[in-house]
Amino acid sequence: MSPKPKKKPTAIPGGGTGANSAYQFRTDDGYKSIAEMDPTPRVHRSVTPAGLTYGATPNYDGANRQGTGTSIFDPVLCELVYRWFCPPGGLVLDPFAGGSVRGIMASMLGRRYTGVELRAEQVEANRQQWDDMASTCVLEPVSDPEALTPVHQRAGVWLKRDDLFIVNGAPGGKVRTCLALARAGQRGLVTAGSRSSPQVHIVSRIAQHLGIPARCHAPEGELGPELVAAQAAGGEIIQHKAGYNNVIIKRAEDDAAALGWTEIPFGMECEEAVTQTRRQVANVPEGVQRIVMPAGSGMSLCGVLWGLRDAGRTIPVVAVQVGADPTERLARYAPPGWERMVTIVPSGTAYDDPASVTEFSGVTLDPYYEAKCLPWLQEGDLFWIVGIRQTMQVPDRATASGAAPTWIIGDSQDIGTLVADEADLVFSCPPYADLEVYSDDPRDLSTMDYPEFIEIYGRIIEAAVARLKPNRFACFVVGEVRGPDGFYRGLVPDTIRAFEAAGARYYNEAILVTAVGSLPVRVSIPFVGSRKMGKTHQNVLVFCKGDPRLAAEAIGVVEVGDPGEPDGAEEAPADERPEA
Ligand SMILES: C[S@@+](CC[C@H](N)C(=O)[O-])C[C@H]1O[C@@H](n2cnc3c(N)ncnc32)[C@H](O)[C@@H]1O
Repeated sequence: MSPKPKKKPTAIPGGGTGANSAYQFRTDDGYKSIAEMDPTPRVHRSVTPAGLTYGATPNYDGANRQGTGTSIFDPVLCELVYRWFCPPGGLVLDPFAGGSVRGIMASMLGRRYTGVELRAEQVEANRQQWDDMASTCVLEPVSDPEALTPVHQRAGVWLKRDDLFIVNGAPGGKVRTCLALARAGQRGLVTAGSRSSPQVHIVSRIAQHLGIPARCHAPEGELGPELVAAQAAGGEIIQHKAGYNNVIIKRAEDDAAALGWTEIPFGMECEEAVTQTRRQVANVPEGVQRIVMPAGSGMSLCGVLWGLRDAGRTIPVVAVQVGADPTERLARYAPPGWERMVTIVPSGTAYDDPASVTEFSGVTLDPYYEAKCLPWLQEGDLFWIVGIRQTMQVPDRATASGAAPTWIIGDSQDIGTLVADEADLVFSCPPYADLEVYSDDPRDLSTMDYPEFIEIYGRIIEAAVARLKPNRFACFVVGEVRGPDGFYRGLVPDTIRAFEAAGARYYNEAILVTAVGSLPVRVSIPFVGSRKMGKTHQNVLVFCKGDPRLAAEAIGVVEVGDPGEPDGAEEAPADERPEA
């Protein structure tokens, strides 16, 4: 049986026009879309190992595109590559951006992303997808004390957003406690706090919300922004000469007793704080390895420990001590055996000194509390955000996604001038020679014959590796393609050669097994005539510019499951054995 003539169409119908494009694949019967070639519905896993959903929203066309015949990058592979090979917050450089998956997944995992793509219409479609997706990832604040505040993930860390419990502009878990105590009283509120106390502000806001007065006892001296804001919310500030906590606490107690108003205890030290926090443990996801949180008075910590005890969960807690020693309060309010549940670590700075870094992957943190936990965070943790002082720009809503990806329209041969920043990971899925033709632009690699393709491809890899920081990884997902004579072109070894020439050495290879679909049916006849086997995998090639150990160090800890005991462990294959 003679092979059918292959004719490359001069114009590709619908080729490379973003969401509704139909990329064309060269087949033995001419150019066809996936849908034409393979009627089997492609199963695309849209929930990644970290529980991120991709393409699950009705407006998002990531899933639909497959039905329209467009190839789509695997979000699961994408997540693994980012978590294994790119530091949290690091910059991903993608010289053949194509669809939106790698950009959107980068944002969802707390990595920054710059993709260069020749086709303006594809970039426009990507930006539109980002807008649609970001708007469906909005986390709304909660004001019902019974409702659970959201949990979402950034940079491999779960964030428990108790700062999104907001009443009358006052944010945080302590607001829930204040509200519960205030509702029980209803005549007026009295409290005590330092001159920079978020508690004084919370009490004033809750009093304003309930239409009752608030009196707040504070030390003498210039008022901090929280107390100024408390006054603006109607709170009366009464200052005392002796600035010790026990003095202002006593004055507040006496004042509340004399007026018959409700006292909101200093540091919210009361059973109600435990009751209001322990329920919030209910949506801590499975798989969380540790909970990291600040310990000021320690009352929110007591609530979390009780919540874990209620749920029968044994997640270790790391509490970062930001003020006085909380162990006395823990002994009184935490569950018995709390010493085995929590490790208290020092913040390393004085209570009044703010942290210098006050942001985690785009989420603003309280400089005196949560920001001091940052040095203790690692991938797989849940970061319990108790609150944020109101004067630090309270979020009226937040998004579960991180910073918007950047897509640059241009020819990747010009990466040196198009991209200013140095990257922490080069990651892409290049054109597989002319297997998919994206446009009729002569700069488009998919329009070139193979020798020219390899030359320009090599230049682009060189330009991308030049933009990569030293001691960092690069990863290309490629698949082998056949030439007109039926022989493999050698795109995989050519890619390896190009990276090695650019100064990044070949370090890992993994095989991405793709859906078999109707492949057995499609290949059976050609196989009989030519012994040409069908291919159901792509090659995930990983390179390193510099030292892989330093690159791994820059990325930080990554979970690898339980390595188990050395006893009975399988011996590594000879070529994989570490040096003696
Ligand atoms: C393999 S595709 C990406 C599609 C892929 N299946 C995906 O969604 O991940 C490669 C992309 O490279 C783009 N491209 C081709 N030549 C280019 C060049 N010289 N500079 C920048 N982008 C280019 C094409 O327009 C195409 O979108």
